[in-house]
Amino acid sequence: MYATPDRTLSGIQPTGTPHLGNYFGAIEQHIALQDQYPGECFYFIADYHALTTVHDGDTLRANVREVARTYLALGLDPQRATLFRQSDVPEVTELTWFLASVTGMGLLERAHAYKDKIARGMKPNVGLFLYPVLMAADILAYRPSLVPVGKDQMQHVEMTQDMATYFNQAFAGGEPVLRRPEGQLSSTPVVPGLDGQKMSKSYGNTISMFDSGKALRKRVGKIVTDSTPLGEPLKTEGCHVLGLLGLFKTNAELDEIKTNYRTATRNGQPFGYGHAKQLLAEAIETRFDAARQRHAHFTAHPDELDAILARGAERARGLARQTLQDCKKACGLR
Ligand code: ADP
Ligand code: TRP
Repeated sequence: MYATPDRTLSGIQPTGTPHLGNYFGAIEQHIALQDQYPGECFYFIADYHALTTVHDGDTLRANVREVARTYLALGLDPQRATLFRQSDVPEVTELTWFLASVTGMGLLERAHAYKDKIARGMKPNVGLFLYPVLMAADILAYRPSLVPVGKDQMQHVEMTQDMATYFNQAFAGGEPVLRRPEGQLSSTPVVPGLDGQKMSKSYGNTISMFDSGKALRKRVGKIVTDSTPLGEPLKTEGCHVLGLLGLFKTNAELDEIKTNYRTATRNGQPFGYGHAKQLLAEAIETRFDAARQRHAHFTAHPDELDAILARGAERARGLARQTLQDCKKACGLR
């Protein structure tokens, strides 16, 4: 009765400029899935979620566009994947209420993301506490079978599975009105930032895919290293530069660089952290060269971006409306 094709769905918050952590942890995988689930990939920009932290309209609008441009620049194909704004589907806030009505406080109190933010001194609003319920709603509304996310979001996907079960049991005698999705971890669970902590917009330790030249070199220059002077062997273990180089280089190339670290030389010349950073900046520049040009194209043609988001919203909203109709029927609201 609720048969749905295999479908993948994920979201990204428009809380700043997307970065290498988002790319290797999420976006790269999202885009690759287009080949596996053509026509059944859904990716949205979680602007409702961002309201818990972004309180300036212009900033939010700019961030939403930046995320959309980023996906398109990095290869999202609107023919095979649906890109849309979360807030273009207001049905998800309605579903949030249905889920909130069957979810225990205890489940939300155990959320790591919430606990971490409180531990870092963030003043919680009710929205932040309810964040996993909104996230469950914007997953379940589209009935995906697979939700690809980074490690930090896996607990939210598990909570989503629980909420689907609570709803189905409470209102539908266990019938799968809401489909329980599976989470899928990317193969690069945590990308380190400039300071070695998880790269995150909220830590200010990010590197963008689209910087180049001097700006990129300056950013990469900020990666924290120890103070080994040029000419002395460098430690490979725990080096954040090397950690990031690992995302771009083959094993053989990486082994060579590790030898450069140990011998403090490369091609007969002295080798220090500055040289390692230079290799990293070059690798980033080369890998994202074509994407940088597409990014510039969408910056110059915002109308194309808007049209893609509008088409995406229409398709996504059609699915959410159907789910909501089924949920209302189950709850007795229709
Ligand atoms: P941020 O922490 O920068 O605010 P988001 O929370 O918006 O990033 O994350 C968007 C997606 O990118 C999520 O699936 C998340 O797991 C993934 N992600 C974010 N930062 C990293 C990272 N440093 N390493 C791996 N994946 C990440
Ligand atoms: N909470 C996710 C993050 O911070 C973003 C997100 C919102 C999401 N809704 C989602 C991810 C649904 C996957 C599925 O990264």
